[in-house]
Amino acid sequence: MSGGNRFQFRLRPAGAGDLASINAIYNHYVLHCTCTYQTEPSTAAQREAWFAEHGPGYPVMVAEQSGEVIGWASLSRFHPREAYRRTVEDSVYVRHDAQRRGVGHALLAEMVRQAAALGYHTVLGGISADRESSIALHARLGFEKVAHLREVGFKFGRWLDVVWMQRILPSGPSGTV
Ligand SMILES: CC(C)(COP(=O)(O)OP(=O)(O)OC[C@H]1O[C@@H](n2cnc3c(N)ncnc32)[C@H](O)[C@@H]1OP(=O)(O)O)[C@@H](O)C(=O)NCCC(=O)NCCS
Repeated sequence: MSGGNRFQFRLRPAGAGDLASINAIYNHYVLHCTCTYQTEPSTAAQREAWFAEHGPGYPVMVAEQSGEVIGWASLSRFHPREAYRRTVEDSVYVRHDAQRRGVGHALLAEMVRQAAALGYHTVLGGISADRESSIALHARLGFEKVAHLREVGFKFGRWLDVVWMQRILPSGPSGTV
């Protein structure tokens, strides 16, 4: 169980039964936020396909409170070329009415822990430069800004910059991945 005394939640691996909640949390941001550059909501079928691509090597975790999913996070392949296989990209989304209560921190910390346990060498976060909360969250967990791409996104009628933040993990060249 995580969180302070007033806001208790637990983290657990996601299952197929969580996909509707995961999609609802995410699709809110698709419609209202630059935190994802997706512009059309994901369908249930698309979310199922996404989940099927995330096997044991690419975990998906949810934060649950009183039986409700209030956030989720995942590790995804950064790039399909083989030599990138020890690099993963994180995603973390907290339900819009459950923000700022430690859920995002708990989820991202767990994803970093799992990335190290799986033998990945580095975790990357690709973040819209206008998203101060996500940049601050990643910085708080030891990620450093390593790149700033100018005007690569266009959403809600304006150009958007993307910041890449990176955390190098202690795993060496003989990792298991
Ligand atoms: C970004 C997000 C995941 C943070 O999760 P959260 O549960 O709201 O954040 P937490 O309460 O765990 O905060 C952890 C740290 O993140 C930073 N942070 C979170 N929200 C912040 C905000 N609104 N402004 C500035 N910093 C913020 C702070 O450093 C905070 O530590 P502190 O509370 O000790 O100051 C959440 O706001 C969210 O889902 N936002 C929309 C989706 C998104 O941006 N996802 C990231 C895509 S790359």
